Amino acid sequence: MTQTQTIYARIGGREAVESVVADFYERVFSDSLLKPYFEDIDRDVLYAHQVQFISAVAGGPVSYDGADMQAAHEGMGITGEAFGRVATYLAEALRGNDVSEHDIDAILDEVGALEPDVVGQ
Ligand code: HEM
Repeated sequence: MTQTQTIYARIGGREAVESVVADFYERVFSDSLLKPYFEDIDRDVLYAHQVQFISAVAGGPVSYDGADMQAAHEGMGITGEAFGRVATYLAEALRGNDVSEHDIDAILDEVGALEPDVVGQ
């Protein structure tokens, strides 16, 4: 039974993902390299879309209705360094919410594959 569970179910579903996303953005907004990117955006929309996005990546029964990754990050000139920091904060937020290293690796693999859509657009 346990093996057939999705990561989403294993980590505790919606509540757990909301907690991860809140923790993640706290780390992102505390980083002076990253904060300026998020100055003029609607954080409620961003949080809601990020909860959907992470839920979907984790195999949850949630559909993501935000922009695709290339369109969402277009024109921002995001660097590889910024991407690396964001990915690190996501891993730290997952770890801080008791997600296993195995599941963190799986989520980070999916997110890492998005780098060409996010960086340098
Ligand atoms: C690590 C991989 C990343 C993932 C999975 C990711 C995911 C997302 C998602 C799901 C959204 C919501 C899109 C929407 O509301 O339609 C978003 C928006 C955004 N992301 Fe990322 N992101 C990543 C990396 C980054 C990086 C490195 C930066 C900047 C340093 C960044 C800056 C932003 C900003 C500023 C928005 C708001 C765009 C807007 O509302 O106009 N993201 N991202």
